[in-house]
Amino acid sequence: MVTEFAGKTVFVSGGTSGINLGIAQHFARSGARVFVISRDPAKVDAAVAGLRELGAEADGMSADVRQYDQVKAAFDRCAEVFGQIDILVSGAAGNFLAKAENISSNGFRAVMEIDVLGTHHVMHAAYPHLTKPGACIINLSAPQGSVAMVGQAHVCAAKSGIDMLTRALALEWGPKGIRVNSVSPGPINGTEGQKRLVPDPAAVEERINSVPLRRMGTVQEVADLCAFLASDKATYITGTVIPVDGGTTLNPTPTRMGQFLEE
Ligand code: COA
Repeated sequence: MVTEFAGKTVFVSGGTSGINLGIAQHFARSGARVFVISRDPAKVDAAVAGLRELGAEADGMSADVRQYDQVKAAFDRCAEVFGQIDILVSGAAGNFLAKAENISSNGFRAVMEIDVLGTHHVMHAAYPHLTKPGACIINLSAPQGSVAMVGQAHVCAAKSGIDMLTRALALEWGPKGIRVNSVSPGPINGTEGQKRLVPDPAAVEERINSVPLRRMGTVQEVADLCAFLASDKATYITGTVIPVDGGTTLNPTPTRMGQFLEE
């Protein structure tokens, strides 16, 4: 039984599926209490049940990160149930593949609100709970935050916004003892993001060949980075954007994701 995070409470937004659920599960297996939120109550119930099966104290609530009142209520409940909050993983995100000229105002707004406004909301609501030694925030970003990609203008804008929030709040909140970092997963096997961005199975091989390490990453590899950042081995690391992408951002070929879109 791993107890690295025993006595800590981890709050994971978007933590009911995909990479975020994998992160929540990793913290659960490492002794943490885990609280997850997402929009769908059924997914919250299933995720909480799964986390409890791992032996963790777990709870959750249905909340849309775009709605500050819902986010605030979720933090209040987490603090009430577990008595404290130590680590925030902000993972809720929205994505679809579309050329900029085909994205409506509402479509652009949806992604910006989930990603950028949602990250602000969870960081803001977490702040009063995190002003203590050892607290940290991990924001989920993506290579789009630094690499321009066809069909991803909205996501590029959103992820670079998240990365600047990471830097700005690391600066503001460092004196309070709160570390803030972004992790930036590249192509991760079996995720919603991969399904959305590389919908053609024939293109998966080409995608893999664009990765210097010549394979997709695993959810566990992303979770391992988050655990490192939250651990006492990373106590002097803040304001960074750390890729976990097999070197993907060194290679601009992901721009070819846009090949699936009509000219
Ligand atoms: N191309 C262009 N526009 C799209 C689109 C696409 N493939 N998919 C959605 N949109 C637009 C919709 O048309 C709508 O705009 P409109 O009202 O002008 O028609 C707008 O986006 C909002 O869509 P809607 O489905 O009503 O919003 P939502 O809040 O329910 O969903 C999304 C938000 C669109 C980001 C949705 O993809 C989502 O919920 N994603 C969460 C999960 C996710 O993306 N995971 C991947 C992480 S990498």
